Amino acid sequence: MEFRLCLLLLMLVQLASQTQGEPAMACHNVTGASDVCYCSAFGRDREVACDGRTLTELPTGIPADTKTLQLNNNRLTSLPARAFSTFRQLTNLQISRNRISQIEVGAFDGLNLLDNLQLDRNELATLEDGTFQSLISLRYLDLGDNRISSLSVGVFSGLGNLTRLKLDGNAISSLPQRIFSDLVSLHTVNLAKNNIVDLDGVLAVLPSHVRDIDLSDNQIWRVDVDAFVRFPDLYGLNLQGNGLGNLAPGVFNGVPNLFRLRLDSNKMSAIPQGLLQGVGGLGLLYLDNNPLLELDRNTFVSVPELRYIHIVNISLSNIEAELFRPVPKLRGLQLGSNSLSSLPQGIFANLSNLNTLNLQDNKLESLDSNVFADLGNVQWLDLRKNNIKTLPSDIFRLMSKLLSINFQDNSLSALPVDIFQNLTELTRISFDNNNLTTIEDGTFDNLPNLESIDLSGNVLKDVSCETFPPDRPTPPHLNVEIKGAM
Ligand SMILES: *[C@@H]1O[C@H](CO)[C@@H](O)[C@H](O)[C@H]1NC(C)=O
Ligand SMILES: *[C@@H]1O[C@H](CO)[C@@H](O)[C@H](O)[C@H]1NC(C)=O
Ligand SMILES: *[C@@H]1O[C@H](CO)[C@@H](O)[C@H](O)[C@H]1NC(C)=O
Ligand SMILES: *[C@@H]1O[C@H](CO)[C@@H](O)[C@H](O)[C@H]1NC(C)=O
Ligand SMILES: *[C@@H]1O[C@H](CO)[C@@H](O)[C@H](O)[C@H]1NC(C)=O
Ligand SMILES: *[C@@H]1O[C@H](CO)[C@@H](O)[C@H](O)[C@H]1NC(C)=O
Repeated sequence: MEFRLCLLLLMLVQLASQTQGEPAMACHNVTGASDVCYCSAFGRDREVACDGRTLTELPTGIPADTKTLQLNNNRLTSLPARAFSTFRQLTNLQISRNRISQIEVGAFDGLNLLDNLQLDRNELATLEDGTFQSLISLRYLDLGDNRISSLSVGVFSGLGNLTRLKLDGNAISSLPQRIFSDLVSLHTVNLAKNNIVDLDGVLAVLPSHVRDIDLSDNQIWRVDVDAFVRFPDLYGLNLQGNGLGNLAPGVFNGVPNLFRLRLDSNKMSAIPQGLLQGVGGLGLLYLDNNPLLELDRNTFVSVPELRYIHIVNISLSNIEAELFRPVPKLRGLQLGSNSLSSLPQGIFANLSNLNTLNLQDNKLESLDSNVFADLGNVQWLDLRKNNIKTLPSDIFRLMSKLLSINFQDNSLSALPVDIFQNLTELTRISFDNNNLTTIEDGTFDNLPNLESIDLSGNVLKDVSCETFPPDRPTPPHLNVEIKGAM
């Protein structure tokens, strides 16, 4: 260990004098580390890692049988032709976070086995046709966070095994026809954070077998009916952070396998009837940060398989009791940052599979004693930042799986003594920043798994030592700030 540390310090000292002149030596011999790189061979998979070494050119002395070569976070500016041609075993080449602006055609010649190529966070603005031609095995190519604004039609030729392509964080507004025509295996395309306005133009170019399309954080403002019909296998679609206004029913025609749909952070003011018709297998739906104001009671009628609904910050002030009836498989419900002041009777009926319920940052003032009666599987209950003044003593009585209860930042002045009765799995209780003055003895009894009670920011007085759970092998971490007289 100490020897390693010494070696590291030595390497750092040598580094300072090594950035100019002779190329650095990667590995002195095939077993040892060296000036610049960490060279190892686990099993038969030789790894050479030369990350964060201020290298301006490729080091010499990289063993010919290297399988993983990492050159991340250096100062390489270009990759010449045949730069890696002696490393025929390479499967994993990482050159992220350099200053590469030029890649000569042929730079990757000889890398017939390369599986993963990471060129993200460089300064690439253009790439020549055939740059990746020899990478017949490549499955994963990351060109994210460069300066690419246009790509020519032959740039990806030869990439018959490519399954995942990342082009996010560039300046792309359109793609030439047939640019992906060699990419017969492509199923995941990330075009997030570009300048795409014309969705149809981009979709027309993508191969029809893609399964996952990320177009988040572009400037797409409209989606046509039947926009995705060319993609019968579409499974994930991310349109988050665009300028989308309301979508017409029929937009999601022809994508029966869609499972994950993100429409959050757009400008939708309504979810029209029938919008989700035809995507009956949908499992995850994100609608956060849209000014929706209300949701029709039939919004989820055609998506009975939904597991997660995110409707945070949609300016919801009322919610219909029947809204979640059609989605009994729901496991996660995120309803935070809305303006709900009450919850109708039966709102959570049918949600016996729910695991996580988040109602934080609403305007709830009271809760009916039966409101959670059907939520026998909820483990995480979050009601932070509401205005709740009292709690019925039996409100949690049927929530035997609860692990965490959070009522931080409410206006509770008392806790019924038996409110946590029989919650044997409970580990975390947060009632900080309320208006509690007393905690009755016995409130925290019979909670064998309790790890943390937060009562800080209350106005507690008259709390006796018996209030808190008796000595146990591992006492809970008590974060109790008691204000006022004991
Ligand atoms: C490899 O290099 C290290 C350090 O430079 C040295 O200690 C070791 O003896 C060398 N091993 C062989 C097999 O040459
Ligand atoms: C995919 O890679 C294998 C080798 O890993 C190769 O034999 C095959 O020809 C490649 N397929 C295509 C379509 O390029
Ligand atoms: C809430 O949604 C609105 C759009 O309806 C958006 O402007 C705002 O930034 C969102 N707030 C947060 C905290 O994300
Ligand atoms: C929802 O629950 C009610 C009773 O609470 C029941 O009659 C109805 O069949 C349930 N619906 C579904 C879809 O599970
Ligand atoms: C706290 O309780 C007192 C009475 O016990 C009440 O006067 C005060 O308004 C309450 N404060 C809050 C923030 O609810
Ligand atoms: C708690 O459990 C005990 C026995 O396990 C049972 O008799 C009692 O009714 C339960 N209390 C509540 C409030 O459900």
